[in-house]
Amino acid sequence: MSRRTCLSIVLAAGEGTRMASALPKVMHEIGGLPLVLHVVDALTEAGSDEIAVVVGKGAEQVSAAVASRRQGTRCFVQHERLGTAHATLAAREALAAGHDDVLVVFGDTPLLEPSELAGARQRLSEGASVVVLGFRPPDPAGYGRLIEEDGRLLAIREDRDCSPEEKRITFCNSGLMAIDGRHALALLEAVGNQNTKREFYLTDIVAIANARGLTVVTAETGHESALGINNRSELAEAEAIWQQRRRRKLMLAGVTMLAPETVHLCHDTEIGPDTLLEPNVFFGPGVVVEGGARIRAFSHLEGAKVAAGAEIGPFARLRPGSDVGAKAKVGNFCEVKNALLEPGAKVNHLTYIGDATVGAKANIGAGTITCNYDGFAKHRTEIGAGAFIGSNSSLVAPVSIGAGAYVASGSVITADVPPDGLAFGRARQETKPGRAARLKALKGAASG
Ligand code: UD1
Ligand code: CA
Repeated sequence: MSRRTCLSIVLAAGEGTRMASALPKVMHEIGGLPLVLHVVDALTEAGSDEIAVVVGKGAEQVSAAVASRRQGTRCFVQHERLGTAHATLAAREALAAGHDDVLVVFGDTPLLEPSELAGARQRLSEGASVVVLGFRPPDPAGYGRLIEEDGRLLAIREDRDCSPEEKRITFCNSGLMAIDGRHALALLEAVGNQNTKREFYLTDIVAIANARGLTVVTAETGHESALGINNRSELAEAEAIWQQRRRRKLMLAGVTMLAPETVHLCHDTEIGPDTLLEPNVFFGPGVVVEGGARIRAFSHLEGAKVAAGAEIGPFARLRPGSDVGAKAKVGNFCEVKNALLEPGAKVNHLTYIGDATVGAKANIGAGTITCNYDGFAKHRTEIGAGAFIGSNSSLVAPVSIGAGAYVASGSVITADVPPDGLAFGRARQETKPGRAARLKALKGAASG
């Protein structure tokens, strides 16, 4: 049998007023990635050939986001918000192209797994005309109820249209529907708006399909996968579920976490096996950690690369452009930005390294600052391999410290230091023997 083609339609035109936000609802993020892009990714993984996103509020913003994530994704604007069936029909042009499978999903339901989407398609290939993914939420209020008889799905009744008995049904509509492409357009066009909200409900295609003698079936998923986000509290709930899933995936791939629930990951975080994460570590976007590294407690990383066997923290901050070499160390209260630390370099205490290169095995003393910014432009500091920077030194960029050079502690370095050179950039100390005792005697006499 030839492969079935698949069109996926993502409904994302809702106003999302309960988010109380200037941002379109589906642009709110979990794991640092907008909700709608989680959906696009899952649909891609489930083998969608074409994805159509139906947008309303913030149309340009949503369109730009989906286009950057997956080339060729088409957006359709739903100008009036007349219900989920009406929204689906905004993608009429895509529907008319005649795919074998049509998946309709909501842009505010980001936790559906690709396997669940593929499972619904599988049921279509086995002969069902409509597949509805159901779930049993802890509280079914607000969800459409699945009305079944003898294992067949007869209808979906929206919460506000339910009779008191129907309200007691706990099996609910997740929002995912898979429809046989040969019937999709005709079913959607048959939907009317005879309900309390005067909306065109996508869910009505179930009763219509039954009336036409088509087979309608349900599949079931856990309530976590089906979580729909309508407010910030549900957003936080979804974030927690997503984080837990992603941490588990990393742990199963060989990452040790001493207190997993305190580690915050980003959608693109990559961590190699045998890396150990201590409690309370935050990963922003763009972090790659190779194997065998150790990220110690309370560290914050974004846009950073950490090579094998390196050690970061506790209490370290790696900002974008940090590139920490193999077995290098960035210790407590150190900040690194746009800087390369070559293998074995050590930046252990209370230090800022920005716009710099630190050579292999160089040692940066406590309290060192690369003064990279003069108020107008950023400048680079180059530190050679094996150099030693004494504590509490300011390296005023642009400046270079040669390989094997030595900077005396407390120096303000404004001129290049040649390889193997020794630089003092501080006032010479003066010591007056016995002067302290005389001073005390004088002050004592005056105040007594
Ligand atoms: C919907 C389902 C309900 C299901 C629940 C699961 C319908 C009629 N109801 O209810 O059975 O249990 O989701 O979370 O389908 N949208 C548009 N244009 C519109 C209306 C909605 O794009 O005109 C989009 C929204 O952005 C959202 C999705 O469709 O992503 C669902 O709409 P929403 O109003 O949230 O439906 P619910 O009342 O939650
Ligand atoms: Ca909803």
